[in-house]
Amino acid sequence: MTLQFPALSEAQKKELHETAQRIVAPGKGILAADESVGSMAKRLAQVGVENTEENRRQYRQILFSADDRINSCIGGVIFFHETLYQHTDSGVPFVKLIRDKGILVGIKVDKGVVPLAGTYGETTTQGLDGLSERCAQYKKDGAVFAKCRCVLKISDTNPSKLAITENANVLARYSSICQQNGIVPIIEPEIMPDGDHDLKRGQYVTEKVLAAVYKAMSDHHVYLEGTLLKPNMVTQGHACPTKYSPEDVAMATITALRRTVPPAVTGVTFLSGGQSEEEASLHLNAINNCPLAKPWTLSFSFGRALQASALRAWRGHKENEKAATEQFIKRAEVNSLACQGKYQSADGYETGQRIYGSSYTY
Ligand code: 13P
Repeated sequence: MTLQFPALSEAQKKELHETAQRIVAPGKGILAADESVGSMAKRLAQVGVENTEENRRQYRQILFSADDRINSCIGGVIFFHETLYQHTDSGVPFVKLIRDKGILVGIKVDKGVVPLAGTYGETTTQGLDGLSERCAQYKKDGAVFAKCRCVLKISDTNPSKLAITENANVLARYSSICQQNGIVPIIEPEIMPDGDHDLKRGQYVTEKVLAAVYKAMSDHHVYLEGTLLKPNMVTQGHACPTKYSPEDVAMATITALRRTVPPAVTGVTFLSGGQSEEEASLHLNAINNCPLAKPWTLSFSFGRALQASALRAWRGHKENEKAATEQFIKRAEVNSLACQGKYQSADGYETGQRIYGSSYTY
């Protein structure tokens, strides 16, 4: 056994728990606007916009300048390092703009994935070195939560035991460092939707990955009440010929979570993982209506599924900015309803186009 004294004081725990609760207060979820410069290049290329620092700032301004309607829908925004220090056209820091809406500021702290030698294309995530110092600085600069994304893949051979253990340990070590600095860690073990696996295999792998993550959290003395989990929803692989209903996805997802995620975890904020905006919202709604006991708040931390329409509406043109902001507000409102199980799609079960890109990197 390791030392018997607690890793965090009661005051530190209280602060972390309250922050986590505020992010996932009823009807609220997270806007993941933390695409790295490389990921933004792909996003902007889709709408014919050059990937310059100024265009990235303009685009983020479109999202962040949404009016008070988003205050009851969005509890947190995840920033990328560059964005944390950017300002609006009129010189207001983005951090102030977001905080003045009562929305909490988060920061992506991982430094992307690198190959795990000797595996079939698996990866681990970088960014632990110097993390404590970076967290301390980010806290001073207004961030109260962070995100670290690990990636796992499904195939006949993957995920390997090594990838599962290694990535679980990275997430636990990251969580421990964040909490020591008063920052709520969002724990993101994303299992990619690439492949032709069915829903059952997606569920099985999700259970194995999450079980390893929470074993590592315990080993590292992570205070679960002061964390949020950001998992994939359990779906079939993109190339799977079988189609499943939102209720099937919800049942597989909640079953996997119930078997592996302790009730002490304050909230589960799903990533959208290349689902269409409408599909992600319908799945989140079904998850909240799943007839199994659910001890956690179940909400969203969507990137693409909150931004795809806004990006398409903008296309880099000044005159489209208002329309683009409206598209973002619409998705925020829909997902606010979905995370309370109150969303009814006007067109029935119409999932729209998937925003899927193979082996998506963030
Ligand atoms: P998507 O919702 O686009 O999958 O992104 C969420 C995210 O933050 C991935 O790290």
